[in-house]
Amino acid sequence: MNLINFKDYNEIKESLKLAKEKFSLGKDMFFLNKVAVEETTPEIVAFYRAKRMSNLITGKTVLDLCCGSGMDSIGLAKYAKKVIAIDNNYETIECAKQNAKLCGITNIEFICIDYKKFDFTKEKIDFVFSDPERRKENKRLKLLNETNPSTIELINFLNKNQINDFVIEISNNFTLDELNKELDVIDTELKSNCEKEFCLFNKNPNCINLYFGKFKETETSLVNINMELFDDKTIVEDRLILTNSPINQLNDFKEINVLITTQSHQKYYLYELIKGIDGMNLINDLINLIKQKNNLLLKENIDLCEEKNHNGPLNIYTIYNKDENKQSNLIIDKLIESNFFKNRFEVLFFDKKVCENKEFLKNSTVLSRLIEKLNQFNVSKIVLRGKFEEKIQIELKSKINSNLINKNGIKAHIFFFEKNLIIAKNIDFDA
Ligand SMILES: C[S@@+](CC[C@H](N)C(=O)[O-])C[C@H]1O[C@@H](n2cnc3c(N)ncnc32)[C@H](O)[C@@H]1O
Repeated sequence: MNLINFKDYNEIKESLKLAKEKFSLGKDMFFLNKVAVEETTPEIVAFYRAKRMSNLITGKTVLDLCCGSGMDSIGLAKYAKKVIAIDNNYETIECAKQNAKLCGITNIEFICIDYKKFDFTKEKIDFVFSDPERRKENKRLKLLNETNPSTIELINFLNKNQINDFVIEISNNFTLDELNKELDVIDTELKSNCEKEFCLFNKNPNCINLYFGKFKETETSLVNINMELFDDKTIVEDRLILTNSPINQLNDFKEINVLITTQSHQKYYLYELIKGIDGMNLINDLINLIKQKNNLLLKENIDLCEEKNHNGPLNIYTIYNKDENKQSNLIIDKLIESNFFKNRFEVLFFDKKVCENKEFLKNSTVLSRLIEKLNQFNVSKIVLRGKFEEKIQIELKSKINSNLINKNGIKAHIFFFEKNLIIAKNIDFDA
């Protein structure tokens, strides 16, 4: 790999490792330094976004404002007739040129210039993409007026130059409500013409994409891009789209692939969702999707242990912990599969309304019941899930561990939702 400005051997080693993870040609690529490797869009994300934009950009001229090391320009150039890629850093532009050459791309014109000086009258620009800097030394920049250049200024600049159809990448660290507040300062029509897409890469949050104008397909969406290692043809996306959007019917999106394995007797499964579903207010859409696929019914936030609920036709439950920003989990009486689940657990034991997290240690009856259950399920290792003060967590863990009889048993995850307690076994990782 070619790092133009590097500090030491360690920096090269770390950069190389990261580059190999993010880019198929990682070891041969050109970067200014380690931060540039970190800032460059992962190849698969750049290719997904370009593919999503391809309906409009095919055969057209696209401007990449702030092209960095060039990965997005390279993705866009696969469809566009021409990409004009600009950046105000000369050395970065040189890296981007080499990277495009490495990928055999010849339809990108690179210009080293401040974006504000770009002259829209010289050549017809059909569409714009931009990914402003979100790092300053070791600090991560999040807010839209904090990025470099400011995302708000960039949007206003495009608006002033009559560019209405554009895509901007921003931090993934927003909830929909926070993001809508941030966007309050831009033109109302522009704001209403913007889709916010929470984008995950192999189930890990990567960015939020703002699709303006003709690129907008819905109000809010979430996409999880799964990679079959760098094979362009097998990028798999799972999209979740806010269904109460009036233009939703126009969308052609892939539904989740839900597999049901029938259980002979009633078992419950706990599903931790990938990040973004709650933040983007998409939980009901996910549940609807599962319901559509499986014809299941839903009741929210129920008391799981009440017998009447077990006997009824209700079999998807949402459960969340207020402490953790209301991050929802699903409990379903079937084992299903979806790329929207981060972790799947089999519920071994549910204890209803025991006590608050912080009072747990003091309550010896509850604690001994928990230990008794853990021993009954042959548990030899525990993971505590839920928010605890570190001191309490350590004390609780050591108290439980010292009372576990089994040395070679299973690993159990102990969840605390509000006052409820769940003992569960991870299905995918702790078999
Ligand atoms: C996050 S990087 C872009 C990464 C790029 N999408 C990629 O995949 O390689 C942001 C870039 O914006 C550039 N930049 C910052 N301020 C700029 C400005 N005023 N005009 C043009 N480019 C600017 C930086 O030099 C940096 O290379």
